[in-house]
Amino acid sequence: MTMDYDRYDRIRAVQWQGDRLRLLDQRLLPREERWIDCLDAGQVTQAIRDLAVRGAPAIGITAAWGVVLAAKQGASQDLALAQLRAARPTAVNLMWALDRMKVCIAAGADAAALEREAQAIQDEDLAANRHMGELGAGLIAPHSGVLTHCNTGSLATAGFGTALGVIRAGVSAGRIEQVYAGETRPWQQGARLTMWELVRDGIPAKLIADSAASHLMRSGTVQWVIVGADRIAANGDTANKIGTYQLAIAARHHGVKFMVVAPSSTVDMATPSGEDIDIELRDPAELLAVAGQRTVVEGAEAWNPVFDVTPAELIDAIVTERGVIERPNTLAMQALFG
Ligand code: MRU
Repeated sequence: MTMDYDRYDRIRAVQWQGDRLRLLDQRLLPREERWIDCLDAGQVTQAIRDLAVRGAPAIGITAAWGVVLAAKQGASQDLALAQLRAARPTAVNLMWALDRMKVCIAAGADAAALEREAQAIQDEDLAANRHMGELGAGLIAPHSGVLTHCNTGSLATAGFGTALGVIRAGVSAGRIEQVYAGETRPWQQGARLTMWELVRDGIPAKLIADSAASHLMRSGTVQWVIVGADRIAANGDTANKIGTYQLAIAARHHGVKFMVVAPSSTVDMATPSGEDIDIELRDPAELLAVAGQRTVVEGAEAWNPVFDVTPAELIDAIVTERGVIERPNTLAMQALFG
């Protein structure tokens, strides 16, 4: 499959500058393209916690650079590792990247060696995404329509994206004709971030309200739902952005296929099933206001889980850089990741 990366892989939201980490502030997009500089591990932790940087692979990469900053400044690496690890609970890429850095530290790595490791984590993620793009696009029949959720593109990764990488590859290969993106309440990753990436690339895309998804599937215009993941358990159960589970249920009901795209750094074989995944609860205020303006009556309460778990039996394919698992279960997961 020939892929025009010059056109479809131009965004780098996490940039190491040698003495600081530069992040494209995802809270402000698409209104403003503002970069923030993190000068120490504390600032990196805060950027992850406050969603200046988000998306499972990007969080892991960013955290690795946070450890490098601590090493360069002679700050406590144990403290940096602990703070970064606690920044967000669900995306296992965070723990995976920090464990990799920890192994290097235990082997006596100096700041330069840690810098090489963080760069390797970032480079491997980009390579994985490009490979998954090809694998995933190969599953899609020509002239298909697809629906995606949240943001899984360059902003959420080292570049190109996971589910959005498959979409980019599918569009480039002429297999995908129309993309639909759910707005992804409450933080609007789909509306604010995915649409920004798709429009920049000139990909035919339409935004839908999250609540329009079943109606869209019923119309017959989408053949695949394609999403990323924050953690894939040993039995194939997959945690991803809140709303993914209901898309999988609706997809099965309408005969629409459901694809999860994630690098092996998102696979957590130490977590037996989705029941064991820690689901992040965020501030109810995120639901009670829109763009900082309160929209719900004072005194109202809200419940704001930001991920859910899609059971493996609702997933038709898990695409990783190691290969594709169709109809995932413990045995198939074990064969590829055991
Ligand atoms: O809360 P977020 O924006 O970090 O959640 C992101 C998602 O759920 C993505 O779908 C997932 O991390 C995969 S990104 C390649």
